Amino acid sequence: MAKRLYIETVGCQMNMLDSELVVASLRKAGYEVVDKPAKADTILFNTCSVRQHAEDKIYSALGRLKHAKQHNPDKIIGVLGCMAQKDQRLIFERAPFVDLVVGPGQLHQVPELLEKVAAGEGQQLEVSLDRKAGTRAEIEESFESYDPLRDPQMRPTPYQAFVRIMIGCDKFCTYCIVPSVRGPEQSRPPEHIEAEARQLAAEGCREITLLGQTVNSYKHGANGHTTRLSDLLCRLHDIEGIARLKFVTNFPKDMTDDLLEAVRDLPKCSPYLHVPAQSGPNDVLARMKRGYTVEEYREMLARIYATVPGAAVTSDFIVGFCGETDEDFEATAQLVRESRFKNSFIFKYSERPGTKGASLYADDIPEDVKRRRNNELLAIQNEISEADNQPFVGREVEVLVEGPSKASQKHGDDGPVLQLVGRTHCDRIVVFTGNRRQIGQLLPITIVEANAFTLFGSVVTQHAGPEVYSLG
Ligand code: 5AD
Ligand code: SF4
Repeated sequence: MAKRLYIETVGCQMNMLDSELVVASLRKAGYEVVDKPAKADTILFNTCSVRQHAEDKIYSALGRLKHAKQHNPDKIIGVLGCMAQKDQRLIFERAPFVDLVVGPGQLHQVPELLEKVAAGEGQQLEVSLDRKAGTRAEIEESFESYDPLRDPQMRPTPYQAFVRIMIGCDKFCTYCIVPSVRGPEQSRPPEHIEAEARQLAAEGCREITLLGQTVNSYKHGANGHTTRLSDLLCRLHDIEGIARLKFVTNFPKDMTDDLLEAVRDLPKCSPYLHVPAQSGPNDVLARMKRGYTVEEYREMLARIYATVPGAAVTSDFIVGFCGETDEDFEATAQLVRESRFKNSFIFKYSERPGTKGASLYADDIPEDVKRRRNNELLAIQNEISEADNQPFVGREVEVLVEGPSKASQKHGDDGPVLQLVGRTHCDRIVVFTGNRRQIGQLLPITIVEANAFTLFGSVVTQHAGPEVYSLG
């Protein structure tokens, strides 16, 4: 009988892609995926360490499995990803019934490690070296990039795929755990990336999103020739079948003109750029060690808007970072007001043990102040998002149709006509009534209504009058 796998994924797109690849390798090893932990004999959590809250959720989910494991000791429970790399043995101490702890650099070993557990070889721990535990080359080697098999069924939709172009991060922003859990920055060879993109296109994929923690820092050198992200985009642009190319997440300092010109000149490149600012005041940016001033961020933003007309820019912000005063917060609010981001993701600072921020600065902003600043910033951003969506009313946009909207999934709509959801080239969400066979197509949609988060529209009906033949 097939072994049954339940996998739960939290965190960023990188984690979604990792889960997709783990599932692909386990399907190959004879597993089938089930939708509830109760139905599974193997339960895996692919975890995130960026904020405390994400970790707490995993530890409580593990706590809930304690009884299931007591009743059924053959059930295998595994913790994968960033929290596995960060907490390592601590996970076995806090949840002794966990069988398997595997860091993001060892995911290719999951099938073999599961076999070892099943064979009675006891708890398995596989993680990479800490960032100070060897030479750069040794540490790099201990984080193995993992992009072999793809499983079309695990993609966000069959028409969209993530492709990793680099792993790790070398920026060491003081609040961030990513450089320690995902290791040194390493770019994949362009020919591997292209081969993967061609395979995806052959499987019917229309949109590819290139992934990297600082995706625009991508640089691959071989035989005295360096490939930058702009060069890579050019190379992928030729692939037949691919209609859209996106890339996330960008680091402001690496937003070079060659990249912006590539986005402007290559029609398949989405005019959508996620470039987190994180904060407004220069003293906070310095304590975060972001490597730019707010003036430099503004200059970069002006360059984006000047080079790529109509670009949709999005950002991340952390509120309540160590020592953030009311005036500091006001400076962040001002940056949001003037920048006209399409949207912003706003987070309350969460101290991460092991980061420079945790050792250098006190997490001194009370939780209620963080919450208030978070809500205030969100309100400012939402007002802008709504105002910037309004001009779309009456316009025609091209939408890549992703599938049934959340509402129609909830209603269990199973007829041919239903509410569909897709995105514009500039990453705006569009909801409209359509036909099931339109899923996966690029469709012209006229927008009739808009709020801060969604455009609502209807399919543009093609002219269907009598055909006129020339008698020539
Ligand atoms: N606390 C809160 N937010 C954080 N982020 C990264 N580290 C932390 C932290 N310690 C946010 C940043 C980043 C996004 C992915 O998560 O805004 O861009
Ligand atoms: Fe974290 Fe900064 Fe690297 Fe982004 S650039 S992953 S915020 S250290």
